Amino acid sequence: MVKLNQNYKALQQSYLFSTIANKVKAFQQANPDARIIRLGIGDVTMPLVTPVVDALKNASAEMGVKETFRGYGDEQGYGFLIDAVADYYKREMGVTLGAGSVFISDGAKSDVANFTDLFDNDNVIVIPDPVYPVYMDSNVMLGRKISLIRGTEENGFLPMPTDDLEGDIFYLCSPNNPTGAVYTKQQLKQWVDFALKKGALIFFDAAYESFIVDPDLPRSIYQIEGAERCAVEFCSLSKTAGFTGTRCGYTIVPKEIEIDGQSLNRMWLRRQTTKYNGTAYIIQRGAEAVFTEEGYRACKENIAYYLGNAKVIADTLDELGIWYTGGINSPYIWLKCGMNSWDFFDRLLNECGIVGTPGSGFGACGEGYFRLTAFNTRENTIEAMQRFKTMFKQK
Ligand code: MLT
Repeated sequence: MVKLNQNYKALQQSYLFSTIANKVKAFQQANPDARIIRLGIGDVTMPLVTPVVDALKNASAEMGVKETFRGYGDEQGYGFLIDAVADYYKREMGVTLGAGSVFISDGAKSDVANFTDLFDNDNVIVIPDPVYPVYMDSNVMLGRKISLIRGTEENGFLPMPTDDLEGDIFYLCSPNNPTGAVYTKQQLKQWVDFALKKGALIFFDAAYESFIVDPDLPRSIYQIEGAERCAVEFCSLSKTAGFTGTRCGYTIVPKEIEIDGQSLNRMWLRRQTTKYNGTAYIIQRGAEAVFTEEGYRACKENIAYYLGNAKVIADTLDELGIWYTGGINSPYIWLKCGMNSWDFFDRLLNECGIVGTPGSGFGACGEGYFRLTAFNTRENTIEAMQRFKTMFKQK
């Protein structure tokens, strides 16, 4: 008799964004004339920038020519892209990445979810609440011991370590999904010092780093001294370069991290070479173009556009006197909705045709809060905020 992984029974019935997609589909079927504006899942709307499109076209053409055709790629990713990532870290963040530390992936989600495979079930996994649901779900699937650290209005949704905090692996995401809050260098230094003292590891999700406009805020955990001995960093081009459908990211596993005499970098290489055959050559060429001067400038224009949308949302909330975090160095705005998050979701959908994400979908501490994204078009964002204002003024 086949025996299933019983841990799946402990998961929510469906992944947060699938639940939302199903609710929106049902609403659209019942209201075929409704013009829905999606400020829910963080999916981009601006097309790929021209240098990326050109690189994708050229690489596709290469694949059709005998002399330039490629089969299986290099195990950790092509050298041209790894070098481009390393140059980017040097140029943008002043960080020198160690040789062999970068692994090219198909985006941060799969790596952040798979990385936990390398660790024993006996670890205590510490996850902020609220948080990107993948950290939680991927550990629930393995039956891990999970402990939550609370993000609240009082700590600005940026939980900090305390002397009595127990745990072995700590997930941090900054700029944060869902709250848009960003750790300062001093705050991250406290986390790094804490991890080094405890012999713990930090999983740092930097997927939204390119939205940071304040030059004093850290974009990589490796801007903090000592992080190369205790932190793995995950990043993605989904939001930086509009790769949500194109799929490319990278994970940095410093060779300095040794646990029990074993190199974490070598373990991850072993895992990836067994279970992953790499990101497509064509996509890696497109990703390389993101990091060129021209490519990155064009991507930054798109990011500035999204941040302009965030400002439209933030200005509306200011006008209405609604408390929120995020929206300045982040594409997410996390607002206090003053009622049950799912009820607010239904109200916003039914009365305004706006889709957002209920805060409680990111954890119990998200109850009473709600996330809006800045990834729609300017026109739709303005229209959504007009509808939003009308609803609030009628309240
Ligand atoms: C989100 O909306 O939280 C993100 O788009 C999800 C993701 O990046 O996987």
